[in-house]
Amino acid sequence: MDGETARLLAEAHQMASIGRLSAGIVHEITTPIGSIFSNNEVSVRSLEKARALLVAAKETASPPPDKALSLIDTAIGLAHVDKLACERISGIIRSLKTFARVTPDDVRKIDVNELIRHTLKLAAAVFRGRISFVTEFGDLPEVECYPGLFGQVLLNLVVNAAQAIEHEGTVSVKSRAAGKAVRVEVSDTGRGIRPEDRAKIFHAGFTTKPIGEGTGIGLSISREIMEEQHGGNIGFESEPGRGSTFYVEIPVEQPRKE
Ligand SMILES: Nc1ncnc2c1ncn2[C@@H]1O[C@H](COP(=O)(O)OP(=O)(O)OP(=O)(O)O)[C@@H](O)[C@H]1O
Ligand SMILES: [Mg+2]
Repeated sequence: MDGETARLLAEAHQMASIGRLSAGIVHEITTPIGSIFSNNEVSVRSLEKARALLVAAKETASPPPDKALSLIDTAIGLAHVDKLACERISGIIRSLKTFARVTPDDVRKIDVNELIRHTLKLAAAVFRGRISFVTEFGDLPEVECYPGLFGQVLLNLVVNAAQAIEHEGTVSVKSRAAGKAVRVEVSDTGRGIRPEDRAKIFHAGFTTKPIGEGTGIGLSISREIMEEQHGGNIGFESEPGRGSTFYVEIPVEQPRKE
């Protein structure tokens, strides 16, 4: 596969994955929006009542009633809650933006731990309640990479890990410096990989998932991105019935182009 075809395929796959994750992401955004709407109604009513009380007090030249103050405090409290809700919405949108475009413009230096955080923010929105996500971050040097492509690999691994877990379980993501590379490991407590499937895992089109959940090209694209585009590697270990660990290693520096 030439580089251009690989990129187009990577982009198509990325759009499809984001599409499949969108229900969870939309829920993650509509919940805080719903709370902002209802808080807004309560705030407006409280402020209107407080205003009426203050106007009445002014007309009778009496001191401002305590009730007016407590209504204003209610409105202030809700404004603080709304700020948190806005932060939640903008956080998820920031994470989404990391993945919205995979076409690599240029190699950039990035903080891999930050990229993992964005990946998990999206995954947590989708698999909320069912999967707990745990991280163990090492002290990492900045890594030169195509951030959109490398992010896509991480998202593929995390989504695969979560999908391998039938009911509830844990997905752990660890990072560490490994010589002139950075290593990221994604482990799950899922069903594991059968010995007879081991050789097929990276083949394009191999999937054990129902239509709509998987197309079977995530790992073949991920391998292309790791090996061909970054000179790194990808692999896995698995114990059927207990879980799997997929790892990627990415060189800290990309070769200089002449
Ligand atoms: N963490 C894992 N645990 C168990 N099986 C896995 C794991 N990761 C991948 N697999 C197996 O490898 C197959 C291929 O994975 P791959 O990511 O390439 O495709 P997919 O997830 O099926 O579809 P998609 O194209 O949406 O990624 C999966 O269908 C699954 O059977
Ligand atoms: Mg996949």
